[in-house]
Amino acid sequence: MTALSVHDDDIFRPVFHYSAKNTWLNDPNGLVHHEGIYHVYYQNNPFGSVWGNMSWGHATSTDLLHWDEQPVAILCDAEEDIFSGSIVIDEYNTSGLGDGQTAPLVAIYTSAYKDSSVRRGTQAQSLAWSSDGGYTWTKYQGNPVLDRNSADFRDPKVFRYNGLSGSYWVMVAVEANEHKVVIYSSENLRDWHYLSSFGPANATGGVWECPDLFPLPLDGDEGQTKWVLTLNLNPAGPNGGSGGQYFVGHFNGVAFTSETTVTQGISKRADLDAYQWLDWGRDYYAAVSFNNAPDGRRLMVGWMNNWQYGAAIPTWPWRSPMSLVREMSLVTDQGRPRLAQRAADEYLAHNPESVDTWPGLAIAEGIHHLGAGVAVGIIEVTFTPDSAEEFGLIIRGNGSDGTRIGIRPLENRLITDRTRSGDTEFHDAFASVDTAPIRPASDGSYTLTVFIDRCSVEVFAQNGQVTMTGLIFPEPDNTDISLYSEGGSATASCLKVTRLAELPAHVTEPMLLRG
Ligand code: FRU
Repeated sequence: MTALSVHDDDIFRPVFHYSAKNTWLNDPNGLVHHEGIYHVYYQNNPFGSVWGNMSWGHATSTDLLHWDEQPVAILCDAEEDIFSGSIVIDEYNTSGLGDGQTAPLVAIYTSAYKDSSVRRGTQAQSLAWSSDGGYTWTKYQGNPVLDRNSADFRDPKVFRYNGLSGSYWVMVAVEANEHKVVIYSSENLRDWHYLSSFGPANATGGVWECPDLFPLPLDGDEGQTKWVLTLNLNPAGPNGGSGGQYFVGHFNGVAFTSETTVTQGISKRADLDAYQWLDWGRDYYAAVSFNNAPDGRRLMVGWMNNWQYGAAIPTWPWRSPMSLVREMSLVTDQGRPRLAQRAADEYLAHNPESVDTWPGLAIAEGIHHLGAGVAVGIIEVTFTPDSAEEFGLIIRGNGSDGTRIGIRPLENRLITDRTRSGDTEFHDAFASVDTAPIRPASDGSYTLTVFIDRCSVEVFAQNGQVTMTGLIFPEPDNTDISLYSEGGSATASCLKVTRLAELPAHVTEPMLLRG
């Protein structure tokens, strides 16, 4: 394993987020934990820094902090691009693809057929398998295994269902333009039977992509398990462009029924606040969860970018980081089930350079410099409004510019303002003030945990019930953090700033195609 050779001018290379060494990536695919290793595959252009030649790139980690880039796992060819999908561990070799000795890993991916294919213009689901723990892959001869003769049938997430209806494989995929999640079952991963569909519902302003369906105990009570259906929407996310929504309800092995549907699919801008979003920021898309994560953890990863401007972000030769790995739970809030998310605890094991704490600070109107040198770090803080109209943090600042993460208590909004965050010029749609509805805790306070990496900020507010993720491209020297208040005063308590060491995540070198 060799250390990543970061270009001298590679000022945005993330420290604790995965990025491919020198190529384009988008959706996370085939997230699976197998024999002590987390595998992240992803939509990858092995030959360039923009979308194209879609193949499955691959990275591995034992601790979620350090990622090793592996050779491309499944390469596109003249007939098909390899679009998004998932991986299962076929423990009992139900597919018959294994050698009888070791359980094969089976990838279920979307074949996006090219002009040279007799199936051109359609998308169908195909298999590939690996007998060496996920490093080399062979396509199944009988592909595709599920074809609806549709141009927009994609992104299969397959998992093992064990419930009252039996034990079998379940696939959720989308008919993207119809705003439908379609659900299938299989005994052997090769023959699939239609079960049901879900949608349109809630946000339908863009295509539906990359669904996931998983159980979670409500308020930690295994006796009260509910199912969460997540899916991604592009465009027309809550702050524009790509976004992800979720529904909570019940899955009986055949159909998903939602308790949280507000509208059967006539999405209006005014309704967006009423829907449940995986993230309110602009840069969290195509999120899916790991299969077989240890200890029953439900760990999710999203693509930290947005289709609106994704190809223009000023990083090179790599483009797009993955989000933090997030651990999901389900809590009751105002009588309804709601996802709560937090960064995986592993991030707290990251080498801190220093930790500063302030038990209580009064924030008079204005900007108050707290410290410098926080290019990469974690800020935890609880705010209480006094007379202020807006208050919060300015990160990656230089005295005048910076990214604001604030609360507008009178409007009940969390905001991230990146209009003066650094380089915003590369695309008209990038600079923005993004907002999310937020309610104070019963004591009137707002608690935020903010993860800052070299080109991103991820905000987990009110125990992770509201999250907001955004890319930023500040000057490397802009590392100040400040508190600010407008229109009056506020209080910050339990403020903790952890500076993280700038150790680059290591990546195996070079990124080579096998064969
Ligand atoms: C989502 C998506 C998927 C598709 C993939 C292609 O970002 O459009 O629906 O499988 O990207 O790269």
